[in-house]
Amino acid sequence: LTDRIKLNNGTSIPCLAFGTYKIKDPAEAYNSVKSALEIGYRHIDTAAFYENEKQVGQAINDFIATGAAKREDIFVTSKVWKSELGYKKTLAAFEKTMSEIGLDYLDLYLIHWPASYAFDDDWENTNRETWKAMIEIYKSGRVKAIGVSNFLTHHLKALMEFDIIPAVDQIEINPGFLQKDTVDFCQEHGILVEAWSPLGRGKSLEHPLLKDLAEKYDRTVAQIILRWEMQHDVVPLPKSVNPERIRSNSELFDFELSEDDMEMIDEIEPYGNSGHSPDQA
Ligand code: A2P
Repeated sequence: LTDRIKLNNGTSIPCLAFGTYKIKDPAEAYNSVKSALEIGYRHIDTAAFYENEKQVGQAINDFIATGAAKREDIFVTSKVWKSELGYKKTLAAFEKTMSEIGLDYLDLYLIHWPASYAFDDDWENTNRETWKAMIEIYKSGRVKAIGVSNFLTHHLKALMEFDIIPAVDQIEINPGFLQKDTVDFCQEHGILVEAWSPLGRGKSLEHPLLKDLAEKYDRTVAQIILRWEMQHDVVPLPKSVNPERIRSNSELFDFELSEDDMEMIDEIEPYGNSGHSPDQA
């Protein structure tokens, strides 16, 4: 749970995260992050868009105050939302995030959603201008790494000319939705892939093949899916508000899926994916 993977800028990231998307209720956000930290997660993912940065930061600070961990043991990610793209707006959004979250620094700051040709004639330039602000923030030392989210290959290409390229691309991945083109591009360029909605918003848990595999390995369906993602060198960000499920989703380090079973999961047809695409929504 505390195993780390090296990012392309030399910092390291724990290989499993706790995701907080849609945990908007303030008490629920605070309590679920606190449970995750108590259970042993050391990687917490939030975003300005989730409207829970304040509670996430509070739970982290309170946990550190108990002496159970130091700030440097916990990896914290937040993101700039798509309404704030562009150089100046991104710098301002970052300041807002920092005052909400109440931490001295972030481990990772991401562009949450790319400007896309479907909505912005100048989309490549918008992404480049946003990226310039991200680099400036990175160079200030207030974030340890910078990256993107929901960037497909064509969005990433516009950033590859910079001296500092994204360390991470966080995209939707779940069984039936491996987004292989983007994963391959990232892995060829040393960009770590993170998976949002790794359980297909809960829907993938009903897939018959995955249920059979859960029985075969004597694991939960969620554990089979999260393990499949980890074995693809992807960092999953499962989300739950239930402490028992938060715990079981982290018990992934004492079994391994066979190559044949990995391939069978790879071949699942689209099943629980959200249908959100940066070029359509
Ligand atoms: P809950 O918060 O009640 O546990 P994703 O991460 O793909 O978006 O999926 C999150 C959804 O899956 C949430 O609705 C969450 O509900 C549910 N979930 C998370 N972990 C498990 C689990 N181990 N078993 C069943 N449902 C789960």
